[in-house]
Amino acid sequence: MTFGKTILCIGAGYVGGPTMAMIAAKCPHCRVTVVDINPERIAAWNSDDLPIYEPGLDELVRTTRNRNLFFSTDIERGIRENDIIFVSVNTPTKSFGLGAGMAADLQYWEKTARQILEFSKSSKIVIEKSTLPVKTALAMERILNCRDNGICFDVLSNPEFLAEGTAVRDLEHPDRILIGSRDTDSGLKARQTLVDIYANWVPRQRIITSGIWSSELSKLVSNAFLAQRISSINAISALCEKTEADVTEVSRAIGMDTRIGPKFLNASIGFGGSCFKKDILNLVYLCRYYGLEEVAHYWENVVKINDYQQERFIRNMMGAMFNTLAGKGICLWGFAFKANTGDTRESPAIFIARRLLEERAEVVISDPKALKNARSDLSGVEGRVRYVEDPVAAAEGCHAIALLTEWHLYHELDFQKIFESMAQPAFIFDGRNILDHKRCFDIGFNVYPVGKPPLRHF
Ligand code: UDX
Ligand code: UDX
Repeated sequence: MTFGKTILCIGAGYVGGPTMAMIAAKCPHCRVTVVDINPERIAAWNSDDLPIYEPGLDELVRTTRNRNLFFSTDIERGIRENDIIFVSVNTPTKSFGLGAGMAADLQYWEKTARQILEFSKSSKIVIEKSTLPVKTALAMERILNCRDNGICFDVLSNPEFLAEGTAVRDLEHPDRILIGSRDTDSGLKARQTLVDIYANWVPRQRIITSGIWSSELSKLVSNAFLAQRISSINAISALCEKTEADVTEVSRAIGMDTRIGPKFLNASIGFGGSCFKKDILNLVYLCRYYGLEEVAHYWENVVKINDYQQERFIRNMMGAMFNTLAGKGICLWGFAFKANTGDTRESPAIFIARRLLEERAEVVISDPKALKNARSDLSGVEGRVRYVEDPVAAAEGCHAIALLTEWHLYHELDFQKIFESMAQPAFIFDGRNILDHKRCFDIGFNVYPVGKPPLRHF
C-alpha cells in the first residue's frame, strides 16, 4: 500500500506511543513509525503486553499495529524514510552541573537533533512534542540547519496536553491542539501540513496556531496553572483542618463561580506525575535565567506547598496514632500518582512510603497496576515493606490504611470485614477524600480525611 504521508516519532514513551497510535487510527492514509533507543520498550509495543497501561490503548494499538503503525529500533532508517518527525524523547530535570534540580536536561533532545541531521537525505519537518524550555527551537534550528547542502528543516512546536489515565480520550477529543511555527513561508507551510493531519479528526476551531515561542511557553504555563490550582486548594485544606471548615464544601462553593470552574479542585496528598514538578521547576529556572526573581519565587511556592502537603499527611498520621508509628502496620491503598495508570513517577506515595519507613512503620503496599513500579521505586530503601495486590488482604493485621490513589475499586470493598481484620483502634487516612467517611466511622474506624474534621471514637 502507498501512503499519503509518512510520519516518524522518536521516543516511544507515555507521550509518543499513544499519540502516534491515535494519529495512525485517525489517518489510515498515513504510515506512522515509532522508534526508540530502548529495544525492550519497542518489543513490548510489538507484543500483547504494552509497556504502559492506559484505558483503551490496547484496542487502539491492536487495530493499527502493522497496518499503518509500526514500532522499530531502527532510528537511522526511520529518519531517512520519513519527512515529518515528531520528537518525544524525555527531558527530565537536570541532575548535574549548572541548573541541577531545576533546569531541563536537554542532552537526549540535542542528541536526537544531531541524529536527524546526520541521517537525513531530504528536507524535513521536525516537531517538538516533548515539553521544552522556551527558545529550544532556536537551538534546534541552529543545529539542524548548520550544513549548506540544500536540505532544510522546519521546526514546529506541538505540545501534548494529554493526561495519563485518560490519554486515549484526551487524544481523541482534545480541548485544543496547539501548533507553533516561525512566521516564514516555509514555517507557515510546515504548520499547515501538521494542521491538515490533525484536521482528520479534530474540529478546525480546536486547532490553534501561534508563534513558536508562545507555543513552547504555553505548555509550561498550562501545567504550572493546573498544579497551582492543586496547591491552592491543598493550602486551603490545611486551614480547613484548623478551623473545622470542610474543603469539599469550599471547593464546591468556589467552583460554581464560572470564572473559577469546578475542575482540579480536589484536595489531596499532593500532585505527582512526570510533568508538573519538572515543568514548574523548568519555568522557575527560566525566570531566574532572565532575572525575574519575584516571578520565579511565586511559581516555586507551588512546589513547596506540594512538598508541605505530603509532609503534613505524615504528621497528621503521627499525631492521630499517638505520636509513634514504629512497629505499626500501615497499609497503603494505591501507589500510582493517580488512578487508571501504573505510572508512579513523582508519586507522593514514594515520599510517604519512605517517610513511614523512616518512622520504622511496617508498610504494606497495594495497587492494582503499579506494584512493579513501586518495587523498583523502593528498591534499596531500608525497612519492612510487603507488596500485596488485594487491598483487603493487604490491610489485614494493620493499624491503619492510608488511601493514596483514587482507584474506583476502593469504593466497593467490604469495610466491615476489613475493620474486623485490623489491629484496634483502626485508622483510615483518606488522602483523596473518596471514601464514605460516615459509614467507615459507623463501622468503627477513626477516619482522617484531608481538609475536613476527623471522625474519632476517642
Ligand atoms: C515525558 C513528558 O510527558 C514529556 O512532556 C516530556 O517532555 C518528556 O518526558 P514521556 O513520553 O512520558 O514524556 O517520557 P518517557 O516515557 O520517558 O519516554 C521517552 C522515550 O524516549 C523513552 O522510551 C526513551 O527510551 C526514549 N529515548 C530517550 C529515545 O528514544 N532516544 C533518546 O535519546 C532518549
Ligand atoms: C498533566 C496535565 O494534566 C496534562 O495536560 C499534561 O500533558 C501532563 O501533565 P498528568 O500528570 O498525566 O497530566 O495528570 P493530571 O490529571 O494532571 O494529575 C496530576 C496530579 O495532580 C495527579 O497526582 C493527581 O492526582 C493530582 N490532582 C489532580 C490532585 O491532587 N487534585 C486534583 O484536583 C487534580
